[in-house]
Amino acid sequence: MHRAFKGRILALGLTVFGLGFGTASPPESLREAAQPSGMLIGTAVRAAQLAETAYAATLAREFNMLEPEDAMKWEVLRPDPQSFDFSQADRLVDFAARHDMKVRGHTLVWHQQNPPWLTQGRFTPDQLAKLLETHIKTVVGHYRGKVFAWDVANEAFDEQALGKLRDTIWYDQPGIGLSGDGTAYLERCFRWAHEADPQALFFYNEAEAETLGPKSDAIYAMVQEFGKRGVPIDGVGFQMHIGNLHPDVASISANIRRFTALGVQVQITEMDVSLPVDAHGNASAEDLQRQADIYRQIAAACLAHPGCTAIQTWGFTDKYSWIGSHSKKARGAALPFDRNYLPKPAYRALRGALAAR
Ligand code: XIL
Repeated sequence: MHRAFKGRILALGLTVFGLGFGTASPPESLREAAQPSGMLIGTAVRAAQLAETAYAATLAREFNMLEPEDAMKWEVLRPDPQSFDFSQADRLVDFAARHDMKVRGHTLVWHQQNPPWLTQGRFTPDQLAKLLETHIKTVVGHYRGKVFAWDVANEAFDEQALGKLRDTIWYDQPGIGLSGDGTAYLERCFRWAHEADPQALFFYNEAEAETLGPKSDAIYAMVQEFGKRGVPIDGVGFQMHIGNLHPDVASISANIRRFTALGVQVQITEMDVSLPVDAHGNASAEDLQRQADIYRQIAAACLAHPGCTAIQTWGFTDKYSWIGSHSKKARGAALPFDRNYLPKPAYRALRGALAAR
């Protein structure tokens, strides 16, 4: 907990100290706008796109953090039970180092994007426990000192049976030997990760748990319990994939408040605001404005809490976003830059919110 808020508190102190020393010119990028508050402003990144000049230039200019969108998932890292293929992820980590960006790792334990040899391998709980321990320790160890924070587990709570753990290969199908013991299997994963890199921060990441409700209540109870038991958890990631254009920002804010009050960090990890689009992928001007308001409000909710330490979008250009395939092209235009890397109203809203702190 002691390390948790150092960056932002230091930056807040400098801001207060710096007041009255004249005003600088308005920020020219998100990362410049985020500097005074110490906020991390990140985005999900695809290794294949780094070769595209506009993609790489926008990424380096605007963001001070990146997260591999897919390159650190089992499916990519684990071609077979014995080997690790770090090539794509390493390229992203190198890019980050060259451009003075932090790296968030995503994700060590998830029910999706696992290779068929794993999901169809009919492994016993003992074998799965060994596989998972080796995976976590090897991957976290490989990136020790380079990845500052990890999503240890992603989406472990159920979508339908709210508040219950999801049935997965890691929990109870057949699980790693702790099925029926609630969050004990997650606890084990956090401990393995921490052993591999005691300096890194370890997060629990979740979808649709942004507001107060049964799912966020269950996560809250887990974090509270982990705190009592000394489990090395440093924070909670809220994905923030927004499709409803009237999100309950007050509830999101209250949720951020209660988690940070527990002494863990909150990070917004996968924000996008998807809009209905026409056959050309274009959204209405009105919706683009509404989208900008949402980016502004969510950024402001994070900035209002010193324990909310990162705002990250799930991609940055509408040219590359998971929303298109996810919604069968019915929605899109979810990100701050358009397909030609031109800033949208959402970009200016986000930059303005960052600069306002
Ligand atoms: C998505 C990626 O963006 C896609 O490229 C991939 O095909 C599927 O996964 N929640 C998560 C992310 O935690 O890992 C998902 O990423 C989006 C939803």
